[in-house]
Amino acid sequence: MVDYQELRAKIESLVDPGYKKQIGKVDGLKKLTVGPTGIVDVVIALKYPNSKDEIDFKIELTKLVKLELGFPGIKITFEKNEFLEKDEKKITYIGIASGKGGVGKSTFTANLAYSLTRLGKKVGIIDADVYGATIADIYGIPFEKPTATANELMIPPSASGIEIISTAFFVEDNKPVMWRGPMIGKLLEHYFNGVKWADNTDYVLIDLPPGTGDAALDINRFAPDAKMIIITTPHINASNVALKAGLGAVQIGHELIGVVENMSYYHNTCNNKKEFIFGEGGGELVSHRLSVPLLGQIPINQPDEGFIYEADEEVGKIYDEIAEMIIHLI
Ligand SMILES: Nc1ncnc2c1ncn2[C@@H]1O[C@H](COP(=O)(O)OP(=O)(O)OP(=O)(O)O)[C@@H](O)[C@H]1O
Ligand SMILES: [Mg+2]
Repeated sequence: MVDYQELRAKIESLVDPGYKKQIGKVDGLKKLTVGPTGIVDVVIALKYPNSKDEIDFKIELTKLVKLELGFPGIKITFEKNEFLEKDEKKITYIGIASGKGGVGKSTFTANLAYSLTRLGKKVGIIDADVYGATIADIYGIPFEKPTATANELMIPPSASGIEIISTAFFVEDNKPVMWRGPMIGKLLEHYFNGVKWADNTDYVLIDLPPGTGDAALDINRFAPDAKMIIITTPHINASNVALKAGLGAVQIGHELIGVVENMSYYHNTCNNKKEFIFGEGGGELVSHRLSVPLLGQIPINQPDEGFIYEADEEVGKIYDEIAEMIIHLI
């Protein structure tokens, strides 16, 4: 049998198919010990764990250690490798949460992505609302199955240059998703670890389902350094729940970028006055209590076409200002 240093060198010369580089070059060998009976215990960080890469790597490594080098057994643990290659951008994940349903998370997510793209950023969206996926509908993307790379990573469909991954692409039209929490967790894991986003992706926005439960914790597990934006309406009921969502996000360790108040007022063009149909003050209250900026107040308004506001529309301009502020704060 070879000695420890030789074993280490041999393992480090195996190639991570995700990076197409030897794992020694990308700091992928995280732990290596050999027990008293010769059992090898190794922790490997791959660019795409939980994918076909992991299965292939496991076979290569087992062949090397047991057949070629003659060790009696091997225990392999995989984790995600955060190593960045030169020129490789680190994707910033941004979760959009509100606690309460129907306050405009999905509308905001889709429009923020559109504004960020207008400002020259490359953006992806994870529609993490598995039961109530709406992002594909907002962009008017027809049912389309994502394609896959050679190592079985999903290539997301895209609209207006924005790449989108959503359960809507995997279930037949309008069929309800009837899954339990753990299955959703598995699915989200694929959305975070099994997607090949464009190489120049700056941000991936995560449209969260209403509530402060499972999904928020799943995001924390798969993207622990995700930043969060909290959406509220001006009404006190919505702001109380949004505050809880914000406090929950902070409690599990996420950094809050700020608060957005949606459906803030109706701009009455007859008398050029703002009418505060849903009350006032929710956004300010939540941002004050969470000690983060109020990024913007979006009026009640329908886009000229579909669900996306263009740059020359009043609300489109507000979205651009919010997007600029977010780029600045990150
Ligand atoms: N500023 C706005 N003005 C007018 N209508 C809006 C505005 N924002 C959102 N809406 C509408 O309100 C409804 C709910 O919005 P949306 O689906 O974005 O909310 P959500 O928080 O994602 O809901 P859910 O919690 O169910 O996922 C949609 O019909 C949307 O078009
Ligand atoms: Mg939604």
